[in-house]
Amino acid sequence: MNLPEHIAIIMDGNGRWAKKRLLPRMMGHRKGSENLKKLINDCDALGLKHITFYAFSTENWKRPQEEVSNLMDLLREYLNDHIKNEKENNFKIDFIGDMSRLAPDIQEKMKYVRELYSAHKGIFVHIAMNYGSRDEITRAVKRIAEEVKAGDIEPDRITEETIAKRLDTKDIPDPELLIRTSGEQRLSNFLMWQLAYSEFYFSDKLWPDFKVEDLLEAVESFNNRERRFGGRNEVK
Ligand code: FPP
Repeated sequence: MNLPEHIAIIMDGNGRWAKKRLLPRMMGHRKGSENLKKLINDCDALGLKHITFYAFSTENWKRPQEEVSNLMDLLREYLNDHIKNEKENNFKIDFIGDMSRLAPDIQEKMKYVRELYSAHKGIFVHIAMNYGSRDEITRAVKRIAEEVKAGDIEPDRITEETIAKRLDTKDIPDPELLIRTSGEQRLSNFLMWQLAYSEFYFSDKLWPDFKVEDLLEAVESFNNRERRFGGRNEVK
């Protein structure tokens, strides 16, 4: 099987997973977070190079305050777990999104974990936290405007690369495959620049139920689509 270099995942359906079991929404997020940990290690074993997860969007602040604060606590727990279990984990990790709106202790922990994991040799995990594509592009445009103002860039020298290099994903290859769970078929402001040429795969599984076997099904579908492409090229 031909593995893409980078897969991006929109983890959707935690709420519905909990509702189906008459559990509080938070239990769905907790299960989702456990699933995230498991899937990362399974993807590392597969030999995938990069994986990006949408954990909290710039729009998620609009959820009830209790849910937002529960999700932030879950993130704290998630980071603490990474600090505690560093030796068992082989992956590298970093974060995309606007960190400045997150609580200072969370920002500290993120920096600490990123540093702690930086010498690891496995899959590179990117977690999108307070991430929104429009926000990311807006921040990049502001930066470019400042550089133009300072005389460091000529406006007519601005290329796609000038923009790509100022996005949070500047050092990461674009994902070849996007997966969204729970049957929804929307991009929800996720990696809109980076997904311009990617294949999209929608799974009906709710995020806490989405396993590495499901991811491999998505990869298989991705491979078939690629093969069709090859077929057309041969006919030409
Ligand atoms: C979407 O489910 C999921 C989220 C908004 C949060 C994703 C978070 C996790 C998977 C947990 C890991 C989190 C951290 C902080 C590391 P939903 O609530 O929109 O589900 P629904 O559409 O069924 O209501």
